[in-house]
Formats: sequence, structure tokens, C-alpha cells
Amino acid sequence: MEEIKHKIASWKGPVTFKSLKEFIDGLDQSDIDYENWLTDPQSPGDYGRTILTLEPFECVLIHWPAGVGSAVHLHEGLFGYVWILEGDLDNIFFQHREDQLIEKNSTRYVKGGLIPEPDGVIHKLQNPTNKRAVSLHFYYPAIESFDGMKLFDLDSGSIGELSDQAQTASWNTTPGHFKEVSEKAFQFTSFAEWNSAKSHVMVNVIPKPEPNRIREMNGAYFSEQAHRYDFSDFNQPSRQRYVSQVDQLVAEYLGSLPKVNDVLDIAVGTGRRALSIREMSKQPYTIHGVDISDEMCAIATDRGIDVHNQDWVHGAEIDVEPLDAITFLYAFGHLANRETRMAAVQRVYRYLKPGGLFFLDLFSLRNVNEWGPRAMERYENSHLDQQGYERGDVFYRKTGLQEIAFVHYFTREEALNLLAENGFELVKMHCIGYAKNPGELVESEEKGNMFIVARKSS
Ligand SMILES: [Fe+2]
Repeated sequence: MEEIKHKIASWKGPVTFKSLKEFIDGLDQSDIDYENWLTDPQSPGDYGRTILTLEPFECVLIHWPAGVGSAVHLHEGLFGYVWILEGDLDNIFFQHREDQLIEKNSTRYVKGGLIPEPDGVIHKLQNPTNKRAVSLHFYYPAIESFDGMKLFDLDSGSIGELSDQAQTASWNTTPGHFKEVSEKAFQFTSFAEWNSAKSHVMVNVIPKPEPNRIREMNGAYFSEQAHRYDFSDFNQPSRQRYVSQVDQLVAEYLGSLPKVNDVLDIAVGTGRRALSIREMSKQPYTIHGVDISDEMCAIATDRGIDVHNQDWVHGAEIDVEPLDAITFLYAFGHLANRETRMAAVQRVYRYLKPGGLFFLDLFSLRNVNEWGPRAMERYENSHLDQQGYERGDVFYRKTGLQEIAFVHYFTREEALNLLAENGFELVKMHCIGYAKNPGELVESEEKGNMFIVARKSS
């Protein structure tokens, strides 16, 4: 920390939005020892500030206990950056027009992420997790007092202008805190309200987290669904039609083989799909399953499946005969990156017998009825490659809920190359409508998901 103060003190030249960013980019986060510099909040629900320096620009360390956020505020006449040292922060943007305040969008920043705060923006920072977050803030010019800063209270619709007496930029009732409060000054529309027609929304996470963290995020997303909605997504009619088309195709391929002894289902879940596929195939094979959720594994075990509670990419070896087929349905896209997908396909190859079949389905980057084209636009416009993203990476949440999951959208070439590089030959690719024409076979991956049947070269 002393070193950063020293570096700031020896700053030369004008402070601009660009030069300030270059300065931060030149710092090494691993050198910062902030633990003893943290200030505890003065009251519950607030954050703690430690001002490190005010000249030539302000640098302040902020300690965000679990769940704590700032007030919605507008800063005029200053700009800056917020650098995440620990934990996560959501940066939530608002638009104020006449008497309307609209929550426009949010971005989640994780350790190492840098939040730009341009002049004139209305926003709020929020720690969305149950762990503390720590951030280092840089502002120019320094906020010597909060005099004139505008706060928006979403519950009452009031706008308050802080006085030079205000100690924090939070909405509180300390006498002299505000210069002026205009009551019923705006009507608030939340993001969930104006997006209520959409079941899920995309959210950028910056930078892209490590594969282990992505696995945890996906796990938390699915348990949130399970506990709050009893898997309503899985029972949604269009998804069901899609899923039953995939299951039927898998069953037809398996049914056409002379004899099937062992099939493994990766991400087996409760085993419902694996059992229905076996029944339709009329082949009396043994079903083996792998799943990361112990709750799911327990249900699948009760249903008579040989279940292994593990992550397919990192799991211990499982004791099975060489397999006739492996299914990886509705889950392959949740793998965190190309390296993880390569490892997953290599392991599939090892467990299959020569000539064994591999079935998987993928979201198509070129499907105009899905997020792919918009994800590509975001990737280009927000320079997400610089944040560790691959083309086709998408983070999303269910409208109105907290947890964020990851999925990758594929091009046809990317998917086929991945299989070819790992010793598979293509048997057939079917394209199946998902959101539009759900469950129908469509002519190309521009109109639906890709369902791929590949064979281990013998
Ligand atoms: Fe701010």
C-alpha cells in the first residue's frame, strides 16, 4: 500500500481518464497488502473507507461487507476507476429522464476487474455475495467533500443533494447530511420489471473467471433454480419439446445397433432422460452416470443408475467396461473454456470402445433465434477478448435472480474440429429448433441447436 501511495505522489503530467487507466494497468495487484489498511464500516449496512491520498488524485480503499451496496448516485465533474482486489461487485447503471429512473443494466466485476466511472454516470456498486469485497478507487479530482452529489432513493423516489457535512455518500437521516431533498421526484422501474418478458438475461462478468470459479458459479445457479423454482426451466414446454426430440434421436441410433451393453450419461442429473432414452431404444443396457451434484446423484442412484458423483473433467477413474456410447446432453456448453472441453472430449474418447458413439448437443452461435449473434456483438463491442473471453462465451442470469451461469455458443466448424482433433468422425449433425420451432428438425444451425453424433475411429 505504501508503494502505491509513493507511486501516486511521484505522478507527473495531467490526470485524464486515459492516463489514470494506464497508471492502474501498470500496478501489480499481487503486491498490494491491504489487510491492515481496511476500515470497518461506521454503521451496519454501510461500507468502510480508508483514504490513502488526495493528491494529485484521490485513492481510497473500500471494504464492502457481504451484501452491502452504495446508494444510487450521480457524480458530476469527476471521473475515476474502481479496481477489485477481493470478492465481487456489481456495477449497476441507471438512466434518469424527466421523472423516470430506469435500472438499465449491470456488469459483475470479479478480482482484477476494473470498473470505469466516467463523468456524469448514475450508478450503484453492490456486493452481491455473502463474502466481503475489497476495492481500490481512483478519482479525479479528489472528492474533498460530498457537497452537491446527488443520491436517488429507490424506495421513496426522492432525490437528495448532499451537503459539505455529509460523511458518506449514503442515504441517511443524520441532521445536516442533505442540503436539499426533493420528494417524489421520480418513478423507479427496475431491470426485472422492464425485462419481465425475458426469462433470462445476459450479464457480462469481468474479467472472465477461472474454470474452477465458473464451475462453482454454474453449481450455485442450478441450486438456486432447484430450491426456488423446482426446476421450472426444465419443465418449460419449448425446452421439453426440444429435449424429447434429442432423446428420441439418441434412442433411434442406439436402437439401430446390434447390441448395446453399457452407456454413460455425463451430467446425468436425476437420470430421468437416461432412463427414457433406454426405454425408447429397446436395448436393455446398463446405464452409468456422472454428475457434480450429490443431490442429483442420490436421486439417480435410487432410480437404479450406476452413478459417480464427480466432475467429468477432473474426476477419478471410474470402473466400467469400454462403453458402447456416451451422452453429454444439454451440458457440454457449460464447460468453462476450450482447454476444459478438449479434456472432456479426450476422456470421452478413452472410455468408449472403438466404434463407440458420442452424442452431444450445443447452442449455435449463428442461431438468429438465440443469443449467439448478440453475444458476438458484445464480444466485439466490449472487447471481451481482452477480458479472457472466447468468441461465443455468455454469462447469464434468470430475470430477477442473483446467481450467474456460464454457457458457450459454438460454430459448426468449432464443434466439428474439436471432435476431429480428438479422434472422432462425424456420423451426423442434426439441427433442432429450440426457442423457435422447438423440437422440430430445422435446415441449419442458423435456425436451431446442433445435435451431433460422432464415432470413435476404430
Ligand atoms: Fe461512483
